Amino acid sequence: MRKRIGILTGGGDVPPLNAVIHSAFEEGIKLSIDIVGIIGGWQGLLDKSIVDLGHVSIDSEIGGTVLRSSRVNLGRIDDAYKKITKNLSDLHLDGLIVIGGEDTLSNAFILKDIPQILIPKTIDNDVGINEPSRIVNYFTLGYPTAAQKISAFVSLKEGLRTTAYSHERIIIVESMGMHAGWLALSSSMGHPDFIIIPEFPLDYDLFKERIVDRYRRERNVIVVISEGARWLGGKYISADESNTDNFGHPKFKGAADVLASKLKEDLKQYFDTRNVNSVNPSYLYRSGKPNELDYNSAVLLGREAVDILSKGITEPVFLTLQSAGSGFHPEILDLKQLNNIEDFHRFVDSRYYNVDEYRPTAEGRAYLKKIVSEVDEVPYGIQWK
Ligand code: F6P
Repeated sequence: MRKRIGILTGGGDVPPLNAVIHSAFEEGIKLSIDIVGIIGGWQGLLDKSIVDLGHVSIDSEIGGTVLRSSRVNLGRIDDAYKKITKNLSDLHLDGLIVIGGEDTLSNAFILKDIPQILIPKTIDNDVGINEPSRIVNYFTLGYPTAAQKISAFVSLKEGLRTTAYSHERIIIVESMGMHAGWLALSSSMGHPDFIIIPEFPLDYDLFKERIVDRYRRERNVIVVISEGARWLGGKYISADESNTDNFGHPKFKGAADVLASKLKEDLKQYFDTRNVNSVNPSYLYRSGKPNELDYNSAVLLGREAVDILSKGITEPVFLTLQSAGSGFHPEILDLKQLNNIEDFHRFVDSRYYNVDEYRPTAEGRAYLKKIVSEVDEVPYGIQWK
């Protein structure tokens, strides 16, 4: 009997999702496996909402997901296991390709005996393991494009640095990243002055001194701050903790805005602060077409997912990206090697981030350089020093 596999996308969209879907579909045709689209992530499977991918026009170079997405926590749904297994059987699906971030993929731990290929994607880059001796899943799909974008946004050649210079501004740029600072950290390739990430709470008084010092010397400053950044003591700089999503994450309300307003007030005693502003590109980080690394990786993973399913698996496996030479290749990680998704939840630590300098360490830069190209600085403007 011909195999039939469902493919779904969950969580925040990222640019290379359609490239995975298209590549899986094409590989299915080659291997005589039917790849069926599930509409709206896990919710689509609960609702038995599917589509024949032959009837969907998929452009791999366009971002978002033609299959749409949702943030469904099966752990909060009564009889989720029973409902999903029944629907899989009703829809004659032999297995799943699930493309998602830590929340979407965490559902696999409730469906441990269903064959699934789990493909990590998120611009937060927080699904992986970075140990001193090995990195499992070097990056998540979507991160390379978003990292390249944030670097461009803050850079001199392509972004905010020229207006910061021309008008002697202090600009606080918000990065996405609820709990992990990888996206903010990657902006270092566009040379902002300071980067603030959730893993290292902000000592505001110390930071204020650094800003004053830098502004006096350079007369413009760019700071990148993750939406989930915290004050020393642990409180979020800006979040509504009474308004949580299906996975218990608070609604973030604009850390860059809060920090800019505070600095505008507190720096008045040192200089004119009318040009202290905040900028939040927000969903633009996740939008648009995938860059080359994201696109190629997506095509590779989509193809590999179907190849593995064609040979047959009985349990969920993660399909990760392993670094090899100057490139990356797909590698399997069995779900049963992990206790829960937290074992596969990656954060920035002091090997990668220098908290005194508010920037990546040399090791951090070496890690990033394999994923993001540096936006070169060129000589520009009056030298104040
Ligand atoms: O999960 C990825 C992410 O980009 C987070 O960094 C961000 O907090 C979240 O998505 C916001 O997305 P949404 O508004 O769609 O919930």
